[in-house]
Amino acid sequence: MFSRQFDLAVKLGVGALGLVVVVVFCVVYFSVRNSVADVGYRPTQPVPFSHKLHAGELHVSCQYCHAGVEESAHSPIPSSQTCMNCHLLVKNDSPKLAMVRESYDKGTPIEWVRIHKLPDYSHFNHSRHIRAQIDCKSCHGPIEEMGVVSQFSSLSMSWCLDCHRSPDKHIVGARPISGVFTGKLEKVSNLLDSTFLFKPIPAQVDYAGVTDIVVPSFGATESKLPAHKIDGIPHPKYAGYGPENCSTCHY
Ligand code: HEC
Ligand code: HEC
Ligand code: HEC
Ligand code: HEC
Ligand code: HEC
Repeated sequence: MFSRQFDLAVKLGVGALGLVVVVVFCVVYFSVRNSVADVGYRPTQPVPFSHKLHAGELHVSCQYCHAGVEESAHSPIPSSQTCMNCHLLVKNDSPKLAMVRESYDKGTPIEWVRIHKLPDYSHFNHSRHIRAQIDCKSCHGPIEEMGVVSQFSSLSMSWCLDCHRSPDKHIVGARPISGVFTGKLEKVSNLLDSTFLFKPIPAQVDYAGVTDIVVPSFGATESKLPAHKIDGIPHPKYAGYGPENCSTCHY
């Protein structure tokens, strides 16, 4: 009845309409769903910065860039000065770093998109957790494997409380890469391969005969060599229980 071309046009039209509907649905669904504080929230950043390259492959410690996380509630995002410590020399004409150079020259901050965010009525403090030697990975997952950072944990109230009630199930051993570390890894080489062995920081016996170990990430001392282990790594503290009373997180 209709010409073949018309038939084809109708089919293509229906197909295209279907596609548009699917695309619109996805765009709307994901923009609503990806409200801040959602697992998998992974915004595009103004500079294509990769944790996988810098932390994973170049082994730059988290605390080199997120300096001061052991002392303050928030973990600061590094300024372009920190980037330029290397990028004055490395890749110093890369177009991908144009915005970093501009920020450094003009002193204007880079507008990174915030990923992790609790609602205003709840409070989280990094320093308490870092000082308890809780590795970033326990909460943020394997950031050093992420090309673009995405939210790993729900950050919901039950997530906080699950760990506070049974920390041993949620806390992973502190690792050198995070800078939340309680000992050192030493390279043991033989002809065939080389492996790393964990060595606790050597005990220092003071005049009163008390053995202290120095916790390098923030220079505090612990009074005994750790016998307790998490993931096979000596840990100075048994994972203490976190608080459950409302006023510690809501005030
Ligand atoms: C060379 C510097 C550098 C190093 C090393 C680094 N980061 Fe970052 N980090 C950044 C920058 C810049 C951002 C903001 C852009 C982004 O999200 O990728 C960021 C963002 C983040 C965020 C998301 C912040 C938000 O908005 O919620 C987390 C979490 C994070 N880093 C954790 C880590 C952890 C864990 C490590 C170590 C495994 C690490 N970072 C190592 C520079 C660094
Ligand atoms: C410890 C040194 C060091 C620091 C600090 C550092 N980078 Fe890098 N970055 C490198 C190296 C080395 C490479 C290049 C790796 C390669 O050869 O491809 C690189 C590559 C890059 C690239 C890819 C460039 C390209 O053309 O492929 C970007 C983008 C980048 N860095 C952004 C940043 C930002 C943003 C910061 C600060 C938050 C930062 N870097 C801090 C060492 C560093
Ligand atoms: C006990 C869980 C926990 C641990 C451990 C932890 N974080 Fe976070 N992190 C969070 C939460 C929760 C937020 C959101 C905080 C807010 O919105 O106030 C956050 C936010 C961040 C941010 C965004 C800026 C900010 O502070 O709001 C960065 C960057 C970050 N963390 C890096 C790190 C690094 C690096 C480490 C390890 C040295 C680390 N975090 C360890 C839970 C954790
Ligand atoms: C991976 C485990 C873990 C997660 C997840 C976690 N915490 Fe904790 N938190 C702890 C531990 C363990 C302590 C006790 C630290 C110590 O012994 O010094 C603690 C301590 C605290 C304290 C200190 C209270 C005091 O007595 O000073 C507050 C506040 C806190 N957490 C809030 C939060 C909030 C808010 C969240 C969720 C956004 C959260 N925590 C997620 C393990 C966790
Ligand atoms: C360990 C920290 C912590 C403790 C203790 C805590 N809360 Fe929360 N609470 C949170 C966080 C974080 C959120 C935000 C969750 C989100 O973004 O979905 C929250 C959210 C809430 C909400 C908003 C609704 C919801 O569930 O998301 C209410 C209501 C609330 N808390 C009440 C309480 C009461 C009542 C207590 C005491 C019995 C309490 N909280 C103890 C961390 C805590």
